[in-house]
This record gives sequence, C-alpha cells and structure tokens, in this order.
Amino acid sequence: MQNLVKIEINYICYTSWHEVPEKYQHLMEEAKKAKEGSYAPYSNFNVGAALLLNNGKIIHGSNQENASYPIGFCAERTALSAAASLASHEKISAIAITCSSIKNPVTKPAAPCGICRQTIFEAECKHHQNIEIILMGESGEIFHFKSIKDLLPLHFDADFL
Ligand code: THU
Repeated sequence: MQNLVKIEINYICYTSWHEVPEKYQHLMEEAKKAKEGSYAPYSNFNVGAALLLNNGKIIHGSNQENASYPIGFCAERTALSAAASLASHEKISAIAITCSSIKNPVTKPAAPCGICRQTIFEAECKHHQNIEIILMGESGEIFHFKSIKDLLPLHFDADFL
C-alpha cells in the first residue's frame, strides 16, 4: 500500500520591518553589519549572519569564498563555527541572515543551503534548544522560522548511529 505523506512546515512572514519583534530587528541590523565582512569576489553575493546567544552576546559571520569555489564558507557556518570556538557552552537562541548582490537587488530572503541547515540542526541538538531563524533580503518580506526543523523536516540525527 502506498500513502502520500504531506509534511507541514510553519513560518511567520512579516511584510514590513516594523512587524518584526524588536529583539530580532536588532539582530537583523547586526546581520547587516556582519555582511560587511563578506569576501565574495567569485559570486558577488554577500551574506551576513548574526547569532544571538542565551547570554545576550552576538556573534557575526559572513561568507568567505575561495578560488577553489566549493570550499568557501557560508555566513551561517562561519558564525556557528565562531560560536563553537568562542563560546562553546553557550546556547544559541536565534540567527538572522541577510544578503545582497552586486548584480541585482535581492528582494526576497535567501534560505540557507543544505549544509548550513544540517549545521544549524546540529547546533539545536547539541544545546537541546530551538534556534529561531530570521531571513531577509535587502527588501521585501522577512521570514521567521521557530526552528530549523521547519527548514529541514526530514533530518539525519544521532538516533540513527
Ligand atoms: N551563501 C551563504 O553564505 N549563505 C546562504 O544561505 C546561501 C549562500 C553564500 C555561499 C557563496 O559564497 C555565495 O553565497 C553564493 O552562493
């Protein structure tokens, strides 16, 4: 017997900046600042990420490219690696991610790549705490996910091992 399985994911879509809770507006400003550290001479697509730790500290990350293009780092993983190095025991409560392109205005959020989704998922597992995810382009709608599980509903976790 075959069953068609449907998976529901949930997220909040804000149509304007003012609808976003204040603490996440602040985090998005930090993500924009983080983007200034982006090194993206190959794609010309700049990404910034800001992590909010439970202790209130904010950690920045930005994409770092390389002539060996596939080995570049996304902003999300740069920030998560920094957090794991600088504050490994501190839980992460949220990540804001923003992007811009030299070629075209980015009018919608870019969602994290598969590797970053798994990396955010691992950080949730490690600290037993959901990480809220706020995504935005340069303009347009802003998306708010309560957990990476809404972006990675079928996930590989340590229970398989
Ligand atoms: N990139 C990120 O940093 N985060 C994402 O969520 C999507 C893509 C980077 C990787 C590469 O440096 C550039 O954006 C173009 O793919």
